[in-house]
Amino acid sequence: MPDFTVTPLTPSIGAEISGVDLAKPIDGETRERLSRALAEHLALVFHDQTLTPEQYLGAAEAFGPPMRQHYSQHHMPGFPDIGLVWHRNGQHPAERWHTDHTNRERPPAATILYGVEIPSAGGGTSVANMRAAYAALPETERRQLDTLRTVNSLDDGKSDTRHEDREKYSKPIVHPMVRTHPLHGSRAVFFHITKTINIEGMTPEASRAYLSDLLERMIRPEIVYTHQWRKGDVLVIDDRATMHRAHGDYDRRESRVLWRIIAEGDRPQLI
Ligand SMILES: [Fe+2]
Repeated sequence: MPDFTVTPLTPSIGAEISGVDLAKPIDGETRERLSRALAEHLALVFHDQTLTPEQYLGAAEAFGPPMRQHYSQHHMPGFPDIGLVWHRNGQHPAERWHTDHTNRERPPAATILYGVEIPSAGGGTSVANMRAAYAALPETERRQLDTLRTVNSLDDGKSDTRHEDREKYSKPIVHPMVRTHPLHGSRAVFFHITKTINIEGMTPEASRAYLSDLLERMIRPEIVYTHQWRKGDVLVIDDRATMHRAHGDYDRRESRVLWRIIAEGDRPQLI
């Protein structure tokens, strides 16, 4: 079993893991320690990894079985459980704060990103601690958020969504806006602003305005870790207690290619 070390990257969120070669099989005890480290630190960084698609899929299993991603036009040819994150052909980086695939009944437990082509400057990924965001809200607002539920579907603004994906993944799915982390036991704010059709009992317009205002107030620099990519980095994000965003501040003549895997999660619950 590799004896790895966990070094926190900020006081609130993020830890670097050293001493793990993700290309090699990961034993049960290491998986468990990594899952606990993820639940605690919410974003894990592994540097200097060299992975084939098969090895990457094997490593991701440490955080749960890979789950099929809904925009099939971005699946890696031959490896449909790996999504290609790149911004060619008019595709825009996801610059708004969000958590992934909330239109699924059991949204992913984790999003795993592997840096394959990295621009010389910019193009980072930021991750916000939504457990800390929840804890910092006034008591009355926390109690109010505890009662709210979002109705989720695919983003409506994407013009390149395939018909069959829209058929499969558009069914409205309701989630609590605050969820309890199944491993950690703590609560976090949970929503995806552009996948939320509305908050139950509110119009779509009022819901969007409220969620936007919430993001503005909740996400402060002290609860954010920004990952500046190096080729060979693997970033694992806990989707149950964070939101993340990409930064489009890089030279678009340069390439930014990340391989993405999402790991199966549980049905969000507020306990
Ligand atoms: Fe995302």
